[in-house]
Amino acid sequence: MILSPSLLSCDFARLAEELAALEAAGITWAHLDVMDGSFVPNITFGPPVIKAMRKTSRLFFDCHLMIDEPGRFVDDYAQAGADLICVHAEATHHLERTCAAIAQAGAKPAVALNPATPLSAVRYLLPQLSMVLIMSVNPGFGGQSFIPFCLDKVRELKAMIVQAGAQTLIQVDGGVTLDNCAELVHAGADVLVSGSAFFGFPPYGERHSQFQERCQG
Ligand code: DX5
Ligand code: ZN
Repeated sequence: MILSPSLLSCDFARLAEELAALEAAGITWAHLDVMDGSFVPNITFGPPVIKAMRKTSRLFFDCHLMIDEPGRFVDDYAQAGADLICVHAEATHHLERTCAAIAQAGAKPAVALNPATPLSAVRYLLPQLSMVLIMSVNPGFGGQSFIPFCLDKVRELKAMIVQAGAQTLIQVDGGVTLDNCAELVHAGADVLVSGSAFFGFPPYGERHSQFQERCQG
């Protein structure tokens, strides 16, 4: 299991130190939540801040774009240092074109699905996607509760990926805790995002171990 802590819950005034602390805790991915105030009712940061973070960190930057028509900005995020660019199926008219543009820009393409969006939205794209993100809360804020039917969605997506013979990773984001991480991994999740249940419980090395131990048990 890869744990990708959501920086939305970290101390934005100490971003470089937070990134260093994650690396010291054995973390390899950082989940960067980009929000535009239109697709979701909240605003965070964009390419300039990611570019500044890139200078201080070698973590894998897992960029979750909660923005309308993300195809307009794919090159900007890739140039800023995004390793993976995840766009919402609901936010783009031409999803295949946007995913192809992400790969062309040198980043790994991924698609996020809101809780109510059916898996069929990504069915034909699986061979060209590095990852599908199952949102287990309605995006926009940290600290919300996991929506239970999303566990079935993870199981169904896993079966779909196996049937397609694809290598696509499954990520789950929203309301992930020590109490539900094991069943999510059992259902097929490869990457778990955690914001409030991670950053709220330092030291990070210990918290990372707790997540890994639960998921191995
Ligand atoms: C929500 C974001 C999440 C959020 C998760 O829109 O996409 O990444 O930070 O936070 P928790 O783990 O607190 O639900
Ligand atoms: Zn996210």
